[in-house]
Amino acid sequence: MSERTHILGIGSAVPDNVVTNDDLSRVMDTSDEWIQQRTGIRQRRHIAADCGGTDLGAIAAREALASAGVGIDQIDAIVYATLSPDIDWPASANLLAAKLGARSVPAFDVRNQCSGFLYSLASADALIRAGRARHVLVVGGEIHSTGIDLTTRGREVAVIFGDGAGAVVLGPSPDPQRGLLSTHLHAEGRYAEKLWLESASSRKKPRIEPADLDGDAPRAFPSMSGRYVFKHAVTRFPEVIQEALAANGLRVEDLDVLIPHQANLRINQFVAAALEMDEAKVVNNIDRYGNTTAASIPLALAEAMRDGRVSEGRLVCLAAFGAGFTWAAALFRW
Ligand code: UT7
Repeated sequence: MSERTHILGIGSAVPDNVVTNDDLSRVMDTSDEWIQQRTGIRQRRHIAADCGGTDLGAIAAREALASAGVGIDQIDAIVYATLSPDIDWPASANLLAAKLGARSVPAFDVRNQCSGFLYSLASADALIRAGRARHVLVVGGEIHSTGIDLTTRGREVAVIFGDGAGAVVLGPSPDPQRGLLSTHLHAEGRYAEKLWLESASSRKKPRIEPADLDGDAPRAFPSMSGRYVFKHAVTRFPEVIQEALAANGLRVEDLDVLIPHQANLRINQFVAAALEMDEAKVVNNIDRYGNTTAASIPLALAEAMRDGRVSEGRLVCLAAFGAGFTWAAALFRW
């Protein structure tokens, strides 16, 4: 059997600026009670001045490299997961690579929203298993606060998203029994418009116009059919987690820790109930960060590694569902 890939180091970074539910209720018609009841979110972080996802990502990446004991010169590829690239093009992974002083190694973005981190993990694992790389840096970074409609019109989406970044260094596992067991990726593009950001759009002439910022449903802000997304999420999460377990001859009872994407605390509670899992095994930090899409899993994983919930020998599942629709799982023997 070829060497297994493992997470050798992890890092995270969020802006200092805390935005509470009460802060939001001062700029739109919402309340702390509504947001907490429907989502479990108490606060999130928003950048207070210009700062790209790759600026946060670089902080997280340096921490991940230091904790792995791996130098940037030993990194053979950089994968950056985001739905909020710093600029339209080139890929933000290039900007990140420059900030980190990387060699001229491959660097590319993965644009798969809430599943982006797991798609990136799977891509990095494939590079490592194919012998194309020994160490890969995978970073999820998002700046939502500059792209949401912070008025009552945009409240359904605006209250759930936050800014942040998380990074991991992947490399050969020190123990062949431990590390990444498998990854499972899915997409169903026919639901793309249920959760999307339509403008600016290269298929439109012009790509963006003043009307995209006005009206009842402006195309320059994310649009979401919240209940529709919710229903698919609570079906696809248990499905893909079961798929990952079955692929390895394991069962839900074997699972020690579940780290789901942080979109809504209620979704994660539904998932635990559907799997008949003890909720204490599910890692949640959405109360403090909101939904940071591609950054949410590494942010939660970093916390769980630091506080010992994720520790040697444990069976750990990472799982995500989001825009696309896309969904995914990764199973680790830690
Ligand atoms: O990471 C990407 C994946 N995203 C998700 O997984 C999100 C999945 N969906 C959800 O988490 C939930 O659908 C939301 C949290 C977005 C919304 O919760 P909901 O229980 O589905 O509420 P709703 O959209 O059905 O809205 C209920 C009411 C509506 O008012 P009426 O029509 O009943 O008078 C909304 O206008 O709540 C209203 N509302 C709000 N009220 C206060 C919507 N947003 C807000 C708000 N504050 N922020």
